[in-house]
Amino acid sequence: MAACDDDVAPSTASAYLDPSYWDARFGKEEHYEWFKDFSHFRHLLAPLLSPSLSVLEVGCGNSRLGEDLLREGVAGGITCVDLSPVAVQRMRDRLAALGTKGVDAVVADMLDLPFEHESFDLVIEKGTMDVLFVDSGDPWDPNPTTVENVMKMLNGIHRVLKPEGIFVSIAFGQPHFRRRFFEAPELTWSIEYSTFGDSFHYFFYTLKKGKRSLESSSYQNTLPSPVAPRINMVHEELESEDFIFLTNLDGL
Ligand SMILES: C[S@@+](CC[C@H](N)C(=O)[O-])C[C@H]1O[C@@H](n2cnc3c(N)ncnc32)[C@H](O)[C@@H]1O
Repeated sequence: MAACDDDVAPSTASAYLDPSYWDARFGKEEHYEWFKDFSHFRHLLAPLLSPSLSVLEVGCGNSRLGEDLLREGVAGGITCVDLSPVAVQRMRDRLAALGTKGVDAVVADMLDLPFEHESFDLVIEKGTMDVLFVDSGDPWDPNPTTVENVMKMLNGIHRVLKPEGIFVSIAFGQPHFRRRFFEAPELTWSIEYSTFGDSFHYFFYTLKKGKRSLESSSYQNTLPSPVAPRINMVHEELESEDFIFLTNLDGL
C-alpha cells in the first residue's frame, strides 16, 4: 500500500472526525486503501462469503473493497456508505464509468444508519471505527463521547444485521480496547479475531449475530483478558500515512 500524499494528510489526528476533512481529501484523492487491500485479508474474508449475501460496507471512502467483493461472487447486493458526499459521488461516477452493476454507493451516517432492521447478511468496516477513537483520550478509559459514538455505531450495525448475520471489523484497535464495546450486553454476537499483515498486524474481528446467549459468559473466552498490552514495536515499522496509528500508540 502506498502512503497517502502529504497534501491529503491532516495536521492533527482530530481532523479525522471532521466531515469537511474527508470531503476535501476525497476531492483530491482518487484511491486509497486504509491498512491493506483485500488481497491481504482475502484468506480471512472469503470463507465468510457466498453468492446470495447482501453486504453493507460502512465508511467506504475511495476503497475498492466493494468491487473486490463483487469479483468474489457476492451477488445479493453490495451497499457502500460514507458520510462524505464527495466520496460517494466519486464512487458512483467510477462504477457508472466501468458499467459495474451490483454495488451501490449511498451517503449515510454510520451513527444513524438509514436501513430497515435485519437488512444485511454481512456488514463490514475497514478503518472506520478507528476514526471514532482518534480523540478518545485514555484508551483504557475512553471519553464519554467516544463511548457513546462507538456504541451508536455498533448498535446500528447490530440492528441492520439479519438474525444470523456477520459483522467484520478490520481495525487497528487492539482486542484489549475493543472488547468492552463488542461485549456490550445488548449485542448478541460471538466474537473472534485474527490478525494479518507483515511487520505490523491488523485485527480482523468476526462477530456472528445470534451466536451469543446473553445468559452465557463463554464468549468472553474468545478475547484475551483486559491486561495492559505489550507493544514491541517502533513507529518506523508503521506505514507513514497511518497518523491515526501513531496517535493511538502514543497514547499507550
Ligand atoms: C479511515 S477511512 C477508511 C476508508 C475505507 N474503509 C478504507 O478502508 O480505505 C474512514 C472513512 O470513514 C468515513 N466516515 C467517517 N465518519 C463517518 C460516519 N459517521 N459515517 C459514515 N462514514 C464515516 C470517512 O469519510 C472515511 O471515508
